[in-house]
Amino acid sequence: MKFKKFGKTGKTVSAIGQGTMGVGGYLSRDTSHDLEYIKNIQYAFDLGITFIDTAEGYGEGHAEELIGIALAGIRDQAFIASKVSPENAKYEDVIKACDQSLKRLKTDYMDLFQIHWPHPGVSVNETLSAMNSLRQQGKIRFIGVSNFSLEQLKVAQLACGDIISSVQTEYNLFDRSIENNLLSYCIEQELTVIAYSPLNQGKASFNAKQIAMLNAIGKRCGMTAEQIALNWVIAHEGVVAIPKAVKLEHIRQNSLAADFDLEPEDFAAIEGEFKTIPINIPVEKIKVAPDGQGNRFVYQTIEAAIQNKMGFCPSPCELASDLQRHNEEIKPVRVRKTRDTSGRYEYDLVEGRIRYWAWVIAHKGLRPIKALSCDINH
Ligand SMILES: NC(=O)c1ccc[n+]([C@@H]2O[C@H](COP(=O)([O-])OP(=O)(O)OC[C@H]3O[C@@H](n4cnc5c(N)ncnc54)[C@H](OP(=O)(O)O)[C@@H]3O)[C@@H](O)[C@H]2O)c1
Repeated sequence: MKFKKFGKTGKTVSAIGQGTMGVGGYLSRDTSHDLEYIKNIQYAFDLGITFIDTAEGYGEGHAEELIGIALAGIRDQAFIASKVSPENAKYEDVIKACDQSLKRLKTDYMDLFQIHWPHPGVSVNETLSAMNSLRQQGKIRFIGVSNFSLEQLKVAQLACGDIISSVQTEYNLFDRSIENNLLSYCIEQELTVIAYSPLNQGKASFNAKQIAMLNAIGKRCGMTAEQIALNWVIAHEGVVAIPKAVKLEHIRQNSLAADFDLEPEDFAAIEGEFKTIPINIPVEKIKVAPDGQGNRFVYQTIEAAIQNKMGFCPSPCELASDLQRHNEEIKPVRVRKTRDTSGRYEYDLVEGRIRYWAWVIAHKGLRPIKALSCDINH
């Protein structure tokens, strides 16, 4: 396993880490696969994947509990990263959330504590001050942010000085948006980029030519297409990746995905073939389908999104005010060709439901939204 330096901390982390979203449940706690998941975490650790990423929100904290059990006795050799949810962004809540995470993780310190999502209703200064105090008490070693835009990152740095070590963000061959500005800024600032969904959530959003290219390079290297995709991610300066895998063969493959260097011509060929080109779609052409990612609850009308009866935090309205205040762009939502037959829509929304409604509210439905099409390539 290759190790990469972690921010300016003087520490290193395994270039391939282990994601745990869905391990022990997604939005709610699921104990039905506990033994399997505990063994998986240990197996990955034994293969050198010592960096493990989790969140208090994964399976209502159950992912953290499973990590705590799996790493008992070897905790000090692992690099454990967790995240505080936006619901707990206020000072006292950050402190409480950290204590609860530590309890579930069965440890007295976390290596990295990250703000999972920015909360426009709570000043980032307040959240980071709490984290800094936790750091001074030795309960966490390093501080990171996740899902921050470049502007939000700069605001956080301005508010709290040089206490942020890492930025977790989506980065994979399907979505290379961070190359527009965030990646180069992180390199310049020596912030580690933790690439989430580095395998695009295991979804096949590539065309036949792209798949053939990855397979051909993989064949030459004795690797699978997914190993090539992971290697491409971590080949970037300052970037580590946290694929989630529960199949043992996937874990094994991922543990080997850092152990080779792509030839410069392969790297260039991949960069030329996999482009991220968002499209601008009038919001009324998108249907918010109830069967998108994870079949999560979803608002299907603007009125329901404004009421936010499901209690999403931050709410679509809070996000909308933030978009209006900063005239910000957003991370592209994901769409597919619609399955609706009414003739009213061109696309179904499959990911980014709260973002979508925030955008609609902020711009009164008048401004097209940036989207990546999951089936445009087929
Ligand atoms: N900060 C955030 O907001 C945020 C958001 C999303 C994700 N994350 C973090 O990033 C982690 C990874 O992202 P993700 O879970 O969205 O997606 P991902 O890692 O891109 O993809 C996971 C999928 O890829 C499959 N897979 C893994 N290794 C493979 C291999 N070698 N060959 C073929 N398929 C393979 C997995 O299958 P099996 O599981 O069946 O093996 C699973 O279906 C999460 O678990 C979480 O820790 C953070």
